Amino acid sequence: MSYDLLTGKKGIIFGALDENSIAWKTAFRVHEEGGQFVLTNAPVAMRMGAINDLAKQTNSQIIPADATSIEDLENLIDQSIEILGGKLDFVLHSIGMSVNVRKGRSYTDQNHSWTAKGWDVSAGSFHKLMQVLYKKDAMNEWGSIVALSYMAAQRVFPDYNDMADNKAYLESIARSFGYFFGRDKKVRVNTISQSPTPTTAGKGVKGFDGFISYAEKMSPLGNATALDCANYTITLFSDLTKRVTLQNLYNDGGFSNMGVSDAVMDMVDNQQ
Ligand SMILES: NC(=O)c1ccc[n+]([C@@H]2O[C@H](COP(=O)([O-])OP(=O)(O)OC[C@H]3O[C@@H](n4cnc5c(N)ncnc54)[C@H](O)[C@@H]3O)[C@@H](O)[C@H]2O)c1
Repeated sequence: MSYDLLTGKKGIIFGALDENSIAWKTAFRVHEEGGQFVLTNAPVAMRMGAINDLAKQTNSQIIPADATSIEDLENLIDQSIEILGGKLDFVLHSIGMSVNVRKGRSYTDQNHSWTAKGWDVSAGSFHKLMQVLYKKDAMNEWGSIVALSYMAAQRVFPDYNDMADNKAYLESIARSFGYFFGRDKKVRVNTISQSPTPTTAGKGVKGFDGFISYAEKMSPLGNATALDCANYTITLFSDLTKRVTLQNLYNDGGFSNMGVSDAVMDMVDNQQ
């Protein structure tokens, strides 16, 4: 269902890898709401080719960019403004990767050059992206920038590993840069803290199946899906949320404020 929330708005969507990606669902919803955008992903992810289908279906163009490269980001933003015919109203940063998680190194046995790489991709890239947008004055007034986070930024989820620290840093960048973007350009910056979601990045976390069913049982409304996240994101891109900024917003079915639920207590009782 379309509410026509984004007609006339233009932006960039990072991170659509395949149809499970949160960015993929968001691209579809933005398109349905009348927004136009450029799709981007790391050149290596392009080789999988799925993004071409998304581009066709949403009538959008693709510009490859490694989000850790200032040069790639500058080129992406210049080209996007040209293709879209004007400055940007929205940007989605939907990027995350930990080499330690991928290679099964535990939090207490990290390879710190992998830690640095994961930080650069998952958190540093958000600062780099906003710095390029800010310096190029690439955002329209009342524009909106959103990045995706996870509750491990606030609470301990041992297998989330160094991604927990990356998400804490990401949320801090949203606040710190959000101040300057708000003051100088009237642009808002927020993070959405999303439920565990079965995507390539999500499923890479050790014990993901147990993790997602635990969260489902803990949340009074159940886990938020990728589509739920897309729907929340379009509200943040719309003019209905103009003065929401510097926030980390939970889209998690209530999980973040729970202590324990009946469903989890029943599970524990049954095991005793
Ligand atoms: N899946 C979950 O459980 C969950 C929960 C909360 C938050 N998130 C966050 O949502 C965001 C999107 O992840 P997803 O779950 O849709 O998984 P996904 O694997 O579909 O998306 C991650 C994307 O990051 C891209 N990426 C990696 N390195 C990059 C680079 N150097 N430059 C540009 N792009 C790069 C990948 O190509 C991929 O498209 C991430 O920030 C993730 O941490 C996911």
